[in-house]
Amino acid sequence: MSKPLLQVIIGSTRPGRIGPSIATWVAGIAAGHPAFEVEIVDLADAGLPLFDEPNHPMLAQYVHEHTKAWSATVSRGDAYVFVVPEYNHGVNAAMKNAIDFLYQEWQRKPVGFVSYGGVSAGTRAVQQLKQITAALRMVAIVEAVYLPFPQTQIDNGVFTPPEASVAAANAMLDEIERWTTALHPMRQV
Ligand SMILES: Cc1cc2nc3c(=O)[nH]c(=O)nc-3n(C[C@H](O)[C@H](O)[C@H](O)COP(=O)(O)O)c2cc1C
Repeated sequence: MSKPLLQVIIGSTRPGRIGPSIATWVAGIAAGHPAFEVEIVDLADAGLPLFDEPNHPMLAQYVHEHTKAWSATVSRGDAYVFVVPEYNHGVNAAMKNAIDFLYQEWQRKPVGFVSYGGVSAGTRAVQQLKQITAALRMVAIVEAVYLPFPQTQIDNGVFTPPEASVAAANAMLDEIERWTTALHPMRQV
């Protein structure tokens, strides 16, 4: 049986963002974890406009090609890590918009968070995301990676955080593995 697919989703889309450096780091750790196949998904590549579907995503009656493509991408995932910055004490708009586009695709799958920002390390964005993902019947993993001022640990695009962040990432991945296994039967009904 093939391993579950963990998608590491880069939540920021702005030119000059640091999201890809952080996503590449956590995807590397996940690739070394025995439980998962790993894929990086970049919201900048998805090219989603502001939500423009006429029907509620619950119906999965998508009319736009960008939504059908986004649906196909997210459907492949068995579990997710959202790599998210904090913008204005909350989740950034591109991430919320990308979540809102879909419904069934997210259901009964675990999601872990790698957040970053200033001294708050993106924790306020994660608290909002826990509320949002609960509405989609996702399971938000308690173990998370919170990164304060990660810019100071990026050199030539390569993010090298302290060992404590590596340990936090592994703890998160172990818990995602448990929930991926536990939720799998619920996705068959
Ligand atoms: C519009 C905007 C709002 C921001 N608001 C916050 C904030 O509320 N808290 C915080 O810790 N950092 C805040 N920041 C700083 C970001 O955490 C930092 O710029 C980070 O690099 C953004 O992620 P990105 O580079 O992947 O886009 C903000 C940045 C932007 C662009």
